[in-house]
Amino acid sequence: MYDALQKEIATYEKRTPKSAEAHKRALQRIPLGVASNYRHYEPYPIFVKDGKGSRIHDVDGNEYIDHNLCFGALMAGHCHPAVVKAVEQKLHEGTTFGMPHDQEWELAEEICKRYPVEMVRFGSSGTEATMHACRIARAATGRDKILKFEGSYHGLHDTALVSVKPKAEDYGDADAPNSVPGGGGIPKSAVANVVVASFNNLGSVERRFRENPGQIAAIILEPILMNVGLCMPQPGFLQGLRDICTKNGALLIFDEVKTGAKLGWGGASEYFGVKPDMICLAKSIGGGLSLAAFGSSRAVMDLIEAQQAAHRGLSQDHRESSLASIHSERRRKRRADALSQGDPELSRLDHDRRRSLAPLLVRHGQPGCSRPTLLVGRAMDHFGPAHGSRHRQAPRRV
Ligand SMILES: Cc1ncc(COP(=O)(O)O)c(C=O)c1O
Repeated sequence: MYDALQKEIATYEKRTPKSAEAHKRALQRIPLGVASNYRHYEPYPIFVKDGKGSRIHDVDGNEYIDHNLCFGALMAGHCHPAVVKAVEQKLHEGTTFGMPHDQEWELAEEICKRYPVEMVRFGSSGTEATMHACRIARAATGRDKILKFEGSYHGLHDTALVSVKPKAEDYGDADAPNSVPGGGGIPKSAVANVVVASFNNLGSVERRFRENPGQIAAIILEPILMNVGLCMPQPGFLQGLRDICTKNGALLIFDEVKTGAKLGWGGASEYFGVKPDMICLAKSIGGGLSLAAFGSSRAVMDLIEAQQAAHRGLSQDHRESSLASIHSERRRKRRADALSQGDPELSRLDHDRRRSLAPLLVRHGQPGCSRPTLLVGRAMDHFGPAHGSRHRQAPRRV
């Protein structure tokens, strides 16, 4: 190990004995001692106590500036007073009823005005949103196969867990990547129904449609591929996918779990000017609480009404999270409007933020990524390939 890294780890361990203790305790009952594998790192993760605004404290009392902000999901920071007030009031009225409530309509209305969809349903996680989108696409087309891109992450359901981070020896040809299951427990039949192409390689997509005529229900993608580092779509790539889907009667699903609430008010479809058939949202639309949504045209979403595609569940209540979403997103819209109208204080903050990251981006050869990076990425996503299937050669995030 490098000396400098060893020194850093020694300092870390000295500052965080209570986190070490908490992790040791958690390891007795929880695999890796954490609730999600992403939260684990060596020698042990920091155990958080509380947070307010941009700052968090760990159980040892150390204070940090929270650049991660729950992997980018906390657009309004921790405990924003407007969100806390709205949710607190609602909590006193009851938490879950298994019955409809009026914020659902209010939130659905806002989402449909903001993104190119006519109807939405809700869930709690991005996994749920992309799972339902794939199922509805299959129901809408009567086809089983989904096309996804090598290296993309769309959550933890069987269809999504194919070729997320395949090992180099399993890749196959970049023009026709292998479908590689992301771990055990994924049925071979599920893997066989996922065909894989390379991001920014329209030829690899066309090839999959030629090889599977009339069988591909949908293409699902993050309009900016982030799981391999920040990988921008090359000019014409998204429109090319739109055209291929239209030509072949398949649906185009934009997984906007990360881009949707951040890249622009109307998400990636507005930013890049390409209209998908379905959209998946999660993370930051929840205003700090768990919330997801998937939406499409009335014709596609009518499959749910006609009981031709299942969507139900006791936990589809989202009373507090819809309120948190409405309050934090409205507030962000006001700020964005003020910024675009040249509010001097906000302009200064925006300028400072861009200036602090710009040298890093230039150093890593991605000056062109600065706007999407600042709006979408989180620190560890910044250093990926600028385009295409070059992620195969790019150094891996650890
Ligand atoms: C693009 C994308 N889609 C889907 C998901 C899954 O979301 P969740 O972790 O809420 O299930 C993630 C999570 O990181 C994501 O980045």
